[in-house]
Amino acid sequence: MERTRWYKDSVIYQIYPRSFMDSNGDGIGDIRGIISKLDYLKDLGINAVWLSPCYKSPNDDNGYDISDYRDIMDEFGTLDDWKEMVNGMHERGIKLIMDLVVNHTSDEHKWFQESKKSKDNPYRDYYIWRKGKGKNGKRPPNNWTSRFGGRAWEYDETTGEWYLHLFSKKQPDLNWDNPKVRAEVHDMVKYWLDLGVDGFRCDAITYISKVEGLPDGKWNIGIRGDEQFTHGPNIHKYLHALNKEVLSNYDCMTVGEASGVTIEQGLLYTGEDREELDTVFTFEHVNCDTIAQLLPKKFNLVQFKKVFRRWQWGLFGKGWNSLYLENHDQPRSLPRFTGDYGEYRKEAGKMLAIAMHFHQGVPYVYQGQEIGMTNYPFKNLDEYQDVLVAYVRKVLGVFEPLLKGFVHKVFLKRARDHARTPVQWTAGENAGFTTGRPWMPINPNYTEINVEEAMADPDSIYHFYKKLIAYRKGNEIIRNGLYKTNYTSSKDIFCYERWYEGKRLFVICNFKNKEVKFKVPSSCAYSHCNLEISNYKDSPETLQNMTLRPYESMVYLLV
Ligand code: NOJ
Repeated sequence: MERTRWYKDSVIYQIYPRSFMDSNGDGIGDIRGIISKLDYLKDLGINAVWLSPCYKSPNDDNGYDISDYRDIMDEFGTLDDWKEMVNGMHERGIKLIMDLVVNHTSDEHKWFQESKKSKDNPYRDYYIWRKGKGKNGKRPPNNWTSRFGGRAWEYDETTGEWYLHLFSKKQPDLNWDNPKVRAEVHDMVKYWLDLGVDGFRCDAITYISKVEGLPDGKWNIGIRGDEQFTHGPNIHKYLHALNKEVLSNYDCMTVGEASGVTIEQGLLYTGEDREELDTVFTFEHVNCDTIAQLLPKKFNLVQFKKVFRRWQWGLFGKGWNSLYLENHDQPRSLPRFTGDYGEYRKEAGKMLAIAMHFHQGVPYVYQGQEIGMTNYPFKNLDEYQDVLVAYVRKVLGVFEPLLKGFVHKVFLKRARDHARTPVQWTAGENAGFTTGRPWMPINPNYTEINVEEAMADPDSIYHFYKKLIAYRKGNEIIRNGLYKTNYTSSKDIFCYERWYEGKRLFVICNFKNKEVKFKVPSSCAYSHCNLEISNYKDSPETLQNMTLRPYESMVYLLV
């Protein structure tokens, strides 16, 4: 099968189905809701959709805990609805990337239900079971912590052993060292590819191989043991086999979620000659406003630019980057990376779009980002619905009441819930998301920020995204150009260039809600200059020294 690597010319839109569009009034987004919005997606111009999990699940972690890999979640509809959706996408030239969650299953998956029955059950070794420590085995087998907080092991009375869960206790880790598990995964991946899927976003993929013997680990950024289960000893062997035996037979793409990945490791996963994954999601840039990946700190633009430079150079000619600012695990990018935008929400949203979309890689647009949706004004800890918040509160235990105010302040900036409030379609009841009671509250700003309004306003963030996506299509400078940066130590301006065959795109983004002076770098000589795109109507037509207005951003073509 010839691999066209179509993703290199694509912009991917992420749908978190629970919050996208509800078709039957139960307050939960569903597949028929997605079907009703396919024309909207086509019109936006995106090439593919990444759909967060829509498989059967008891929803401890909103679908990232799968109880049947081959069927659709009851709240979302049926496999027939799904088939209609994928056909509808393909008819409109949109590809479908499904979430592949195979580090763990739900504890309600039939494999786990069997596995816990007895030590000699044929499914026992599908998961990672160990005897506990101490006289009666009542202490966990090692000191690893779960990614959500607390220990990574759960004791099970039936067989008196512990099972490993790197996420919630309802998400037991699969044992990838068991060839039967790998064969099951290959088979399941093939099942979806044969049904027409065009690729996979591989959830938590860097955790699938654990160090033999599961030794105790060290503390590292709020988690213990990750050096024992991240990029483990057999990971490349397992991914290469998945690629050779299944993926390479289809013209599909993969993107691996790779928390904590370095460029060297990124190249091992995505290097084209290695035949493992096509791209990875890295996290360094979304940690430029955090301490230990959780506590909020002031956004550091200088660090952010440095991260982009390293990854643009690091993968150039060898792999392919993923470009994102938002997803279902991150708070909204407004005001996260822009500070308080006041009356400049539209300018700030467009500026972030420019900053991202002229890099080399696959840009992702998360649902609602294209209309500039913002964080939700949560009032207290009880309003959050995420399992992660529940975990953190449980870990805090008796100290929670003492720290309540602080914990709430942290989540007000950092909670994943912010991205999970329903998409604001209209200014009408429940923002046009549902006729029922929405499963998550709707951001009160829906009367001003909604798709209907954005489509009617020619100057909206939505129309700007449309323009950018269209501009990117077939643009060889963006696809292949060399990356050069300017003003690397400026705390206000992100300025970079892309060079290709005697042409260059010169990108200037003012990240601040204030006027900032810009001086054309002395290295900048050209014979012809054209303003290609800008978030103000009257930005200068040629590149010159200027005072940038709040969030003013533009792209010039220099020849
Ligand atoms: C990453 C997913 O994006 C996140 O939502 C989920 O909680 C964990 N992996 C566990 O599957």
